[in-house]
Amino acid sequence: MTKYFGTRSEVISKREIDHEEAVRKLAGQCMVLLQNDGSLPIMATNGNIALYGSGARRTVKGGTGSGDVNSRHVINIEQGLEAVGYKITTKEWLNEYDRLAEKKHEEYMSELEAMSKENGTPVFILTFGNPFKEPQPQPITENDINNSKTSTAIYVIARNSGEGADRYNNDGDYLLSKEEIAEITLLAKEYEKFILILNVGGIIDTSAIKSIDGINAVILVGQTGSFGGYAVADVLTGNTVPSGKLSDTWAASYEDYPSAGTYSHNNGNIDDEYYNEGIYVGYRYFDTFNITPNYCFGYGLSYTNFDIEVCEVRADETQVSVAVKIKNVGDTYDGKEVVQIYYSAPQGKLDKPYQELAAFGKTNLLAPGEEQLMKISFKTTSMSSYSEEAASWILEKGDYLIRVGNSSRNTKVAAIITIDKDVVTEKLINLFKDSEKLNLMHPTRNNMYKYPGEQEEISAAKRIFIDTSKINVVAIKYNTEKPEYKDNMPEKTLTMEDILEKRATIEELTAQLTVEEMASLCVGTMRMKADSCDVIGSASINVPGAAGDTTSLMLDDRKIGNLIMADGPAGLRLTPHFQTNLDGALIVNEPEFSNLSAERMVKSDDKIDYYQYCTAVPIAWMLSQSWDMELIKTIGQIVGREMLEFHVTLWLAPGMNIHRNPLCGRNFEYYSEDPLLTGMCAAADTKGVQSYPGIGTTIKHFAANSQEDNRMFNNAHISERALREIYLKGFEIAVKSAQPMSIMTSYNLINGIHSANNYDLLTSVLRDEWNFEGFVMTDWFTSQETPSIFGNVKHKYPISSSPLCIKAGNELQMPGCKQNVDDIIAAVKDGVITLGELQNCTRNILKVISKSNFYNGVKPYTQQLCDLKWYVKTENIK
Ligand code: BGC
Repeated sequence: MTKYFGTRSEVISKREIDHEEAVRKLAGQCMVLLQNDGSLPIMATNGNIALYGSGARRTVKGGTGSGDVNSRHVINIEQGLEAVGYKITTKEWLNEYDRLAEKKHEEYMSELEAMSKENGTPVFILTFGNPFKEPQPQPITENDINNSKTSTAIYVIARNSGEGADRYNNDGDYLLSKEEIAEITLLAKEYEKFILILNVGGIIDTSAIKSIDGINAVILVGQTGSFGGYAVADVLTGNTVPSGKLSDTWAASYEDYPSAGTYSHNNGNIDDEYYNEGIYVGYRYFDTFNITPNYCFGYGLSYTNFDIEVCEVRADETQVSVAVKIKNVGDTYDGKEVVQIYYSAPQGKLDKPYQELAAFGKTNLLAPGEEQLMKISFKTTSMSSYSEEAASWILEKGDYLIRVGNSSRNTKVAAIITIDKDVVTEKLINLFKDSEKLNLMHPTRNNMYKYPGEQEEISAAKRIFIDTSKINVVAIKYNTEKPEYKDNMPEKTLTMEDILEKRATIEELTAQLTVEEMASLCVGTMRMKADSCDVIGSASINVPGAAGDTTSLMLDDRKIGNLIMADGPAGLRLTPHFQTNLDGALIVNEPEFSNLSAERMVKSDDKIDYYQYCTAVPIAWMLSQSWDMELIKTIGQIVGREMLEFHVTLWLAPGMNIHRNPLCGRNFEYYSEDPLLTGMCAAADTKGVQSYPGIGTTIKHFAANSQEDNRMFNNAHISERALREIYLKGFEIAVKSAQPMSIMTSYNLINGIHSANNYDLLTSVLRDEWNFEGFVMTDWFTSQETPSIFGNVKHKYPISSSPLCIKAGNELQMPGCKQNVDDIIAAVKDGVITLGELQNCTRNILKVISKSNFYNGVKPYTQQLCDLKWYVKTENIK
């Protein structure tokens, strides 16, 4: 009988309460106070509040698609405010909006059903490309205002998006709608105190907001999971002091983003995307080309103020350290500050951005008058740039300015580090040539951002000379051979038990497997209809709602366990409630199981109930805004404990693609426009999850998955320098400092080759350059001709090839179908892939399986983790 891991009681468990309470405490530290004239925190409790806006009651907890976590409940902002004692006096307006939204939702579902009938794509899949957009709110009337009996109003703007579709620079999406502008203008005029809340998963236009008089405070609360409403109320009332800082640049106008003209659907070409801005992404662009944003990278207010004093800067050939003293100089509120260190590299043969984030540190909660000393360090060679000409990371000679402050546009020059000659810090080979030429942007040196007093700071700064002869060059050995493993113990049938008991090696077990067995292991299990790929849904039968698993075909004879994988990143995505018959077969229970293969399910009147309630945590974008790696590690631990409870081995998260453009439909699932912050966050999330034995993360989508429209066939044209400095850098940091158990490739092509089939990406970079120890898997259906997903639309580029995944070192094809298995077997026969290549993939999967929580009494997953501080180090000093 199938074993299930869900609980049998519906009663809220202590674990659920503990996790939600923890999230409530942490979420406020991810919120960014954008504007405040002192109206926040709202002082009085037990007062009346007039609450309006699409997110007031229908608060968005996270985005749509696989990133949507099914939590037991979502506490909305209305409930959160009521829980801290406020009376909401605009219930009639909120009820009316509910009616409007529900009607719109019914219309939306009927439209999807009609589409589904017409083109055969299941409704569940259609929701991905066509997410429900909350309707524009009905007008606020004079009656609403008079009946609200209060001088304080709050308006909540909500936005939702998800995988499969990019956002639009339109009213009601990136732009505020006419209705929203009219309502905000009215409320700002009519109420004495008017607070605007942004319940959004990505950047929206703030110029319209800035142009309205009478807004007393604006706060970006983002999308904060199940207990979001409570967390928002805590921040509004000052129970939690917001300490988030922006992890993206908020432009004055969408057109200011360098990729705005050509991004995704904007130029009508969703087949080819040319990254002509090169390395000038986010603040690297805005500062270098001197464009003033509405809110700069790293910006965020508090309810209190801080002084940051640089005590000392030290540097040698290995490390740069900055000692800083931070003091809470306010007199009422406790608070936390984020110290940010940027460097400006000299302009040489390579042009450089005005500045780049080098390191950061967040203080403890400081009481008024309290101070903290911190030492923040980073590797000297992390200031290198990638030269395509030399195929190397290079520290070009000249002066490196070290800037310290609390946002990218509020820093002071603290020191100058001088490098006396060009130094190669790492020798690589160029791996990402494109047949098409980019028209790369280059800055004019004199037009960069500058601020009054900067020159004086530079003249007064302490100079540190580095002894460049002491810098070691890292040279990479590229290992192209995949040797065949020979069966050394033909007299014995080896099993995984032999590996766990150290009686044989993984290579010896691999050598005994047939090509058919290995092909099976390298393909996920969703192949219920034997001869077709036309299967939709979750494969994992004993963990319903999990997105997939590896094969259990060799469980009996080889004791090779199957790994279960479930989505994230905003928590663990499982089916919260399911039923089985008395024999343990799942009962069909639409729509919860609309993504499960119907062939595995029965109808029955005798039912056993199971529950898998998981915690919805703040979306990744919010987490990065905390700039607090301990906080993110704690979130990882919350997820990790739930994985262990429900027997999931791999979390299909964190997502870590770079926010190249604000319209990417999945930006909410990713952290930031900055690769260092992104890499640090993913490493911290991974360290949290992997602090428990046998389970791990799957960092995704490797790489350059910056666009959702035509996501499976989009060709991203990117220079090698931009790839290495921007789009791969975060992954490099996460791999080198946290060794995630697995990595998921992206759907898109990079310079003409599908990421899933790209040997240079998956072997030369990932294994040879970075020493990745886990396994790689494809994104879902990457190499599966599935008309129900792709429709019958013709695409400019062909689908990724299943055998080429194996050749490239993409070990596992998910969710998998029989065709994939057959194709791999045929490719070995035809010599397209060698036995050694298939064995290599098999071995890497078996390595992870052997360390997984599948086995009772398994030795803890031995994480050979370098310290997270390998990259950036923050410590308190006396
Ligand atoms: C998404 C992945 C996700 C997978 C499994 C895909 O559509 O792109 O991020 O992990 O589905 O649900």
